[in-house]
Amino acid sequence: MPITKIGVVGCGLMGAGIAQTAAQSGFPVVVCETSLELLQKGFKSIEKNLDRLVEKGSLSAAEREIIRGRLHGTTNLEDFRDADLVIEAIIEQLPAKRELFTALDKICTKNAIFASNTSSLSITEMAVTTARPDRFVGLHFFNPVPVMKLVEVVRTIATNPAAYEVVFTFAQKLGKTAVRTSDRTGFIVNRLLVPYMLDCIRALEEGVASIEDIDNSMKLGCGYPMGPFTLLDFVGLDTTYYIANVMFDEFKEKRFAPPALLKRMVLSGWNGRKAGKGFYDYADPKNPKAMKLV
Ligand code: CAA
Repeated sequence: MPITKIGVVGCGLMGAGIAQTAAQSGFPVVVCETSLELLQKGFKSIEKNLDRLVEKGSLSAAEREIIRGRLHGTTNLEDFRDADLVIEAIIEQLPAKRELFTALDKICTKNAIFASNTSSLSITEMAVTTARPDRFVGLHFFNPVPVMKLVEVVRTIATNPAAYEVVFTFAQKLGKTAVRTSDRTGFIVNRLLVPYMLDCIRALEEGVASIEDIDNSMKLGCGYPMGPFTLLDFVGLDTTYYIANVMFDEFKEKRFAPPALLKRMVLSGWNGRKAGKGFYDYADPKNPKAMKLV
């Protein structure tokens, strides 16, 4: 059964991006948040993104209205009754996700497929709280969702191959390159990206070079779009710290252990761009200044 109607739970950075991308690809989307205030905030960011596309000429004003018309906000999970695919993009906490999926399991049709956008938690641990572990996958998008071309489609040992292919095809219909991976912590990208970012922090701690020089080296020497410290600030230091801890718990390997400096920065609330301070100070957002940390 192909997917025609999408539900997205969570209208934060990732949820809003997923909803926007699905609507731009022609899917009607219901987006659920816990409060009207959060819903409005998420919709405002979607509208801003769509306006920017109109300003750039990549979208006509009429197309923007059609896309906007495909998006429906709600604070009631019952509105997912007829969704074919529900994508969860709420806070990265397993108990909250398990509770959500248990509730959704009672509301949605038995054919509906559930997906989690988690970047590090176990898909299996969520799937087993429902009566449909065979119709449960990971669908991991990257920030900023409308721009980044990759989606990791994650199967567990219980995922039905036909249900998996339906979701894989859906990811392609969003104009993304879908990759196949299994339910191992970090999937593909974070398995490789997180140790790289942690190593960059260790290099800074050990005095190898400054924040700017490490950033410039990886940007200009390797052609990466952002240097590691700019990327850490962009992803969020709290998020990276959380993922690193989950990965360290799973693999017990030193390369996944969060460095002391990262922990100290998270404890100080210096969580990156969103906090105004991380490896850079964003007092002037157009001209970030490297922090003196070591
Ligand atoms: N939403 C929508 N569009 C955005 C955007 C956003 N938040 N940010 C930038 N864009 C668009 C811009 O409008 C611009 O579009 P056009 O080319 O059509 O004009 C395009 O993206 C490029 O933007 P900029 O010219 O402003 O800046 P840039 O060239 O530096 O690109 C970037 C910005 C796409 C973010 C780029 O720097 C990049 O790819 N950075 C790396 C991002 C990355 O690695 N993301 C993954 C993080 S890891 C993760 O998400 C997974 C996890 O589990 C933690």
